[in-house]
Amino acid sequence: MKILLTGANGQLGRCFQDRLPEGWQVRALGSAELDIGNKSQVEEAVLSWKPDAIVNAGAYTAVDKAESEPESAARVNTLGPENLAHAARSVGAKLIHVSTDYVFDGKGTQPYRETDTTNPLGVYGKTKLDGENAVQAILPEAAIIRTAWVFSEYGSNFVKTMVNLAEKRDELGIVSDQRGCPTYAGDLATAIIELLQSNAQGGIYHFGGDREVSWFEFADKIFDVAVSQGRIEKKPTLNAVTTDQYPTPARRPAYSVLAGEKIKSLGVQLSNWEAALTEIIRKF
Ligand SMILES: NC(=O)c1ccc[n+]([C@@H]2O[C@H](COP(=O)([O-])OP(=O)(O)OC[C@H]3O[C@@H](n4cnc5c(N)ncnc54)[C@H](OP(=O)(O)O)[C@@H]3O)[C@@H](O)[C@H]2O)c1
Repeated sequence: MKILLTGANGQLGRCFQDRLPEGWQVRALGSAELDIGNKSQVEEAVLSWKPDAIVNAGAYTAVDKAESEPESAARVNTLGPENLAHAARSVGAKLIHVSTDYVFDGKGTQPYRETDTTNPLGVYGKTKLDGENAVQAILPEAAIIRTAWVFSEYGSNFVKTMVNLAEKRDELGIVSDQRGCPTYAGDLATAIIELLQSNAQGGIYHFGGDREVSWFEFADKIFDVAVSQGRIEKKPTLNAVTTDQYPTPARRPAYSVLAGEKIKSLGVQLSNWEAALTEIIRKF
């Protein structure tokens, strides 16, 4: 299997490379080597390597910044996957594209299924949804995996931020009225590999953590693990705050739990994020 991996230096990109099955070849390109918003660069990279599959781990992921940079976000999150879908089609490669729970408005009360109505609240979610639609229009065989609340040993993420804050502060306010499923990027990488191995049908798949929490509950768990690992001396005092008390440029869905039944029916396990936390906090 020959893979072209884009966004190779992000959380998912790095975790994917760590888990590459034996015998698979990967051409792993970071944004400096391949800008997915650049059509001719994408064509050149795909035509010269002729991959069996393209895994798009590249994205504009700065949710708040996207509100003031909609063109930059759209270039990466919409035009990028569109370029990749065209190029994949031209060489007959599979495409695995990654999207987000932020395509939903969070007004639901039951885990979101792949067929549920989308209604993004912000620029990031809107540009990701436009990217999904572009991919589906060009290459219906492509698999689009929506994921959520991604963390890993790489890059910056909520887990690292919390551990670093605990070293500086005795007390923290954490949002308690947004619920979702934390997802370990390593488990997402494994799921992508399994999808490629399973010859899964094209379409949208939801993949997230196997237990929902609020950010407050997630932080609480992170500190329990960090204390038990000796990574921090003591747990800071946590105060639950509401979204209204912690305004951000981008609105976020209050409830973005993803239903994982469809991907589980292929034999793919959801992310056991609590087990992953123990592993990665050890590595910080
Ligand atoms: N992080 C989350 O909480 C979360 C939640 C839901 C869904 N997702 C989705 O999951 C996927 C993986 O996210 P992640 O957490 O691994 O993101 P990440 O760590 O922010 O990595 C994204 C990577 O994309 C690269 N990139 C940016 N612009 C690019 C361009 N024009 N061409 C090629 N690559 C470009 C970035 O490179 P530079 O660093 O050089 O800019 C970065 O290495 C994304 O599709 C994201 O939308 C993430």
